Amino acid sequence: MDAVFRKSAQQLCVKAYGSDIVDAWAGEPRPDRFVLGAENGDEQYVLLLKGKIVCFGAINIDKQLLESLFVTPSHAGSGLGCELLKFLVEKATIAGVKVLRLDSSLNAVNFYVRNGFVEQRESEFMSKSGIVLKSVIMERALYK
Ligand SMILES: CC(C)(COP(=O)(O)OP(=O)(O)OC[C@H]1O[C@@H](n2cnc3c(N)ncnc32)[C@H](O)[C@@H]1OP(=O)(O)O)[C@@H](O)C(=O)NCCC(=O)NCCS
Repeated sequence: MDAVFRKSAQQLCVKAYGSDIVDAWAGEPRPDRFVLGAENGDEQYVLLLKGKIVCFGAINIDKQLLESLFVTPSHAGSGLGCELLKFLVEKATIAGVKVLRLDSSLNAVNFYVRNGFVEQRESEFMSKSGIVLKSVIMERALYK
């Protein structure tokens, strides 16, 4: 997951943030960021192709938050993000979440709009490694 996260950030988020910020955020391997997430109640899911992780995402039911969604760059634009997002939305709906929030990276805002999320306000996202990134808070109402 950490390798997918770092490649995805370095190749797909770099246009929105620049290489200095992305290097500080995702330059070093830090698999413990996912251990921290799990300890904070994140449910983490992966999509596998031929036994390799190509996409992962996490939701936190208590926080009513979609925590992350990353696709490996070689498979970007082929609908995998959309597929895992639908799965995460379904999980949140079944768990009783009424409004699912997320803090979108600037490059992913259109993707979330296409998937039913509505922009609320500009914000700043604090990564688990303490890097601050400009972001957009978005929400989607969920119906059972
Ligand atoms: C956002 C993301 C999860 C979407 O997943 P996906 O499987 O690529 O989704 P889609 O197939 O629906 O395509 C998404 C976008 O990629 C674009 N795209 C198409 N081919 C592409 C390619 N080869 N490489 C990169 N992007 C491509 C599409 O035009 C589309 O753009 P839009 O959303 O601005 O309209 C994925 O692009 C990603 O991991 N981005 C980097 C990490 C990130 O920002 N995650 C969100 C954190 S909140």
